[in-house]
Amino acid sequence: MGIVDRILSQTDPEAIRREAEENYREYVNPFALRMLKNASLDVIEGRREGASVWDVSGEKYIDCVTGAGIFNVGRRNPVVAEALKKALDVMDMGGWLSVVRERGLLARKLAEITPGTLKYSLFCCGGGEAIEVAVKLARGHTDRTEIICMENGYHGVTGFALPATGRDVYKTPFAPLAPGYKHIPFNDLEAAAAAITQDTAAFLVEPIQGEGGIRPADDEYLRGLRRLCDEREIVLIYDEVQTAFGRTGKMFCAEHSGAAPDIMVLAKSLSGGFQPISCAVFTEEISDFLVTHPFIIINSFGGTSLACLAALATIEYIEENDLPGRAERMGRRFMDGLAALRARYPDLVVDARGRGLMIGIEFPEDSIGPRMAYQLRQNGVITIYTFNNPRIIRIMPPLVITEPEVDFVLEALDRSLAEIRAQEARLRK
Ligand SMILES: Cc1ncc(COP(=O)(O)O)c(C=O)c1O
Repeated sequence: MGIVDRILSQTDPEAIRREAEENYREYVNPFALRMLKNASLDVIEGRREGASVWDVSGEKYIDCVTGAGIFNVGRRNPVVAEALKKALDVMDMGGWLSVVRERGLLARKLAEITPGTLKYSLFCCGGGEAIEVAVKLARGHTDRTEIICMENGYHGVTGFALPATGRDVYKTPFAPLAPGYKHIPFNDLEAAAAAITQDTAAFLVEPIQGEGGIRPADDEYLRGLRRLCDEREIVLIYDEVQTAFGRTGKMFCAEHSGAAPDIMVLAKSLSGGFQPISCAVFTEEISDFLVTHPFIIINSFGGTSLACLAALATIEYIEENDLPGRAERMGRRFMDGLAALRARYPDLVVDARGRGLMIGIEFPEDSIGPRMAYQLRQNGVITIYTFNNPRIIRIMPPLVITEPEVDFVLEALDRSLAEIRAQEARLRK
């Protein structure tokens, strides 16, 4: 029996948990293990299917975390899994210093489905890396340096992405960071116009701030940014790492406002949760910088044959099953249910907002987010508060979630809110 057979054939849940936690404690990161336990995220994933994930102990949960939007086509989508199995019968990840046929096919597909005149794709593995590509392309194209980003934005923690992230706690220990980044209030067009200088290369914005607390940009704001960028020949970059591939009720969130970017950053759900892959998709104008430097931004593992085939199968599945439409319908069902919960728990639910199946629920104070996550786990739902704002928990299930599953989550929210209210009453006694 090979090592993978030996690992997969273990069935004693207690033994698996003991071993996994010990390995984390001794060899991975004991402090991360403690945080995962505190956040009620110490599930050891066993079976995965549709909107659900099972702990190795057999406990079933609706997955409202989805790694912040990785599993749009569902956990272990069987169609994408089958496609990958077939690919593995005949290929490995491919030699990156060659003409990778599957990479070309995926880039062509992305050019067809992304909004505006986005055309070329430069592939990497993670979201932060693709943000770095976008920053480099914007600087290379404009020959200017300044990147204007949003307060409370999140763009990852790698070299040129970290300074763009709008929260100091991620950055301070690593100073000095790459210079040339400036942060302005989100959704404030006057602040955006006032921030432009002769050095401005780009605006970088999430159409819905994910880790900032599920905060949608106004459509008018994005159209205003587009106008400013056109007038001043500035590059508009959208970070659609969390919002793309149907999540918000459209294939890409940019479609809501109609204001297309010059560079769009994609990651998370691009391969349906099977292979690490991300990319920056950009217009023909932006590509001028690459004429003399075609290999100045390279990556051994960016856009492998396997990842690109997984992505093509994922996109086909999203299109054939109209997952954007489904996200829109299920999102509406959630929002109706959340409006009712807000009316019943005005002391606890301050706001419920979002688009499609990218939903945030805001509580009046920081401690309630983590406590709600704990209660929800007791009630069969896993979720997590947003990184930059623990007062907000996210509801980001796979887009294949069914109506009874939406109702199950709403009932779990109802029971969890009732428990928190009872706890608060006990505390006040
Ligand atoms: C909007 C956004 N951009 C970029 C990133 C960074 O992606 P990665 O963690 O794959 O580097 C994330 C990660 O959650 C994100 O939410």
